[in-house]
Amino acid sequence: MSEHSIEVNHLVKKYGGFTAVNNISFTVAKGDFFGFLGPNGAGKTTTLRILSTLLRKTSGEVKVAGYDVDREPNAVRRKIGFAMQDISLDNLASGWENLQLLGVLYGLSPADARKRAGELLGVVGLSKVADKWVTSYSGGMRRRLDLAGVLMHDPEILFLDEPTQGLDPQARRIIWDYLRKLNNEGSTVVLTTHYMEEADALCRELAFIDKGTIVRSGTPAKLKAQLGGEQIILTFGSADQAEKAIAVVTPLLEKETPAVTENRLQATVKEAGKIAPKVITKLESAKLFPASINITQPTLEDIFVKLVGHTIQEEDESNLIKGRDPFVEGRM
Ligand SMILES: Nc1ncnc2c1ncn2[C@@H]1O[C@H](COP(=O)(O)OP(=O)(O)OP(=O)(O)O)[C@@H](O)[C@H]1O
Ligand SMILES: [Mg+2]
Repeated sequence: MSEHSIEVNHLVKKYGGFTAVNNISFTVAKGDFFGFLGPNGAGKTTTLRILSTLLRKTSGEVKVAGYDVDREPNAVRRKIGFAMQDISLDNLASGWENLQLLGVLYGLSPADARKRAGELLGVVGLSKVADKWVTSYSGGMRRRLDLAGVLMHDPEILFLDEPTQGLDPQARRIIWDYLRKLNNEGSTVVLTTHYMEEADALCRELAFIDKGTIVRSGTPAKLKAQLGGEQIILTFGSADQAEKAIAVVTPLLEKETPAVTENRLQATVKEAGKIAPKVITKLESAKLFPASINITQPTLEDIFVKLVGHTIQEEDESNLIKGRDPFVEGRM
């Protein structure tokens, strides 16, 4: 058995004449926490659906847990759990009933399904509301129940499509903690997100995806170091002072010209900690005294913009599937 949980080579998916996934290749090591970060319509859901055997690819090779998704789909299904972007719970049933039904569908005996459902309801903190209809659950509670459902057959690989979409920060954190715990206990996790904080907080390995293509991949730290550079931001008492500071600061930078917006001067540098004291000394000799000096690390969003020229959160209407509305579809 290979040390990879997932191996994807030259994967292509076309919907009619439209190429949604355009020749992507990647591997996910066993026990890794892998994320696809990209905007709406990038091809994240399409890729996950192919990996989880719900959608047939156009071409390429995909192996999950060592099995080919086309030739051995049933073997793949036994190894994976897939939490879909649009939560698939029965609203007119209780938390208990939803989990037990899923357990039986996954092949557990009714007694085993009941036992496992009880354990998982406790793990995701829903024991108290287990007898209530899912219609009365909040968005965060539904996500947690959905996750519990995916874990009923104890899968070794988890596919999670936007697992915290639409949740408030507190509910998001509960899910993050739980996903980290599952991963620490040995599960391989593959998630998609368009929240850069989520990718940064959770993923050990990350692939930026845009318009069906993997633009760049690596650890979040490596991606930031390769392309980012730190920012020094100096705020002055007046726009005039900020303008004067350009001539003083520029010789200390490598090729870069600082940008000035009103009274703020901003420059990208490699080692801000080393350069900042020199900047202050030079400014002092020129009788320029900044009111504040900040050093910031680049965010994954900064790097994404640098690579593809637009932000992750930008809505592109042309990419949206007609009629998909989270409220109509009960996504929340
Ligand atoms: N069944 C389909 N038929 C035709 N086009 C589709 C179909 N499903 C998806 N697409 C298109 O393929 C592209 C990729 O869609 P996909 O749902 O994989 O994106 P995504 O990255 O998951 O986006 P989101 O962040 O909005 O969930 C989009 O342009 C979408 O409109
Ligand atoms: Mg999607």
